[in-house]
Amino acid sequence: MREDVFMKSFSTADVPDIPGRRVIVTGANSGIGQVAATVLAAAGAEVVLAVRDLQKGRAAAARMPGRTEVRALDLASLDSVRAFAAGWEGEIHLLINNAGVMVPPLSRTKDGFELQFGTNHLGHFALTNLLLPRVSGRVVTVSSGAHRAGAIDFDDLNWERRRYRRWAAYGQSKLANLLFTKELQRRLTAAGSPVLAVAAHPGYAATNLQSHTGNALWDRLGNLGNALFAQNAAAGALPTLYAAFADIPGDSYAGPGGFQEMRGAPRLVGRSARAQDEQVARRLWEVSEDLTGTRFPL
Ligand SMILES: NC(=O)c1ccc[n+]([C@@H]2O[C@H](COP(=O)([O-])OP(=O)(O)OC[C@H]3O[C@@H](n4cnc5c(N)ncnc54)[C@H](OP(=O)(O)O)[C@@H]3O)[C@@H](O)[C@H]2O)c1
Repeated sequence: MREDVFMKSFSTADVPDIPGRRVIVTGANSGIGQVAATVLAAAGAEVVLAVRDLQKGRAAAARMPGRTEVRALDLASLDSVRAFAAGWEGEIHLLINNAGVMVPPLSRTKDGFELQFGTNHLGHFALTNLLLPRVSGRVVTVSSGAHRAGAIDFDDLNWERRRYRRWAAYGQSKLANLLFTKELQRRLTAAGSPVLAVAAHPGYAATNLQSHTGNALWDRLGNLGNALFAQNAAAGALPTLYAAFADIPGDSYAGPGGFQEMRGAPRLVGRSARAQDEQVARRLWEVSEDLTGTRFPL
């Protein structure tokens, strides 16, 4: 399908039937991951919900049509990421790196990484490297408009020496998602792979993302903001689905086309100058390889 068709009115009706194609959605028990997984299952895919809480995953899968499977994946643990990848057999049509945390209090993954950088970026980085030889279609990584407020601080990626600023840490992790996509696509192209690395952001969508600040008042304000200003999770999932299926080149970035990219039908959107920096993307890749002990496998 041509991109200009998508730009006008992409909807779930534009998701093609993909009977029997296996797809993985991280964080598929909640929010936009849950919606995307439901749409993919309705399109005939065999959807693996990669979740850290199996009970929540099973409850979400029970509400989905078609063929689903729930598997354990804690992106805040490299052991868990390795176990998930080691248990995989066969082809993966789509890998959707969707799971994320936003502005929690300073906390660390099992491997000692700052939680947002470790979960949102390093966990997906390791997962992708370990699964990539099996991926035949696309790797879709969910970033955020908040990447614009982010910078990569190579001297202190894990917030060990500077005062913790949770929004800046979220921005760094979401900028890392875009730089990861850029460098992944560069490496795929250099390796002669037909696989595409693309990114998306949901705008402002009412999900559980805004309720994990560790501060009851902030959580309540987040919920109020969701009720007043956010689009629903179904609309928030459309850029992810657009990135997965629209006729777009590698390293594309999709988001809502409406007011301030907060809402509306998906289209290709711009990114910050920092998110276009190829040198930083290469360096971040190399550092992430060292931190995770995983390598580009092709
Ligand atoms: N909603 C927005 O307005 C918005 C805006 C920009 C970007 N995003 C991005 O959209 C993506 C999806 O978020 P959402 O809005 O749908 O929020 P959500 O409803 O909170 O969903 C996040 C998902 O990530 C999972 N997750 C968190 N930590 C994990 C870990 N260590 N291992 C495995 N899974 C983990 C959560 O699992 P649990 O249910 O177990 O916590 C949940 O399934 C995130 O990457 C977020 O940064 C969202």
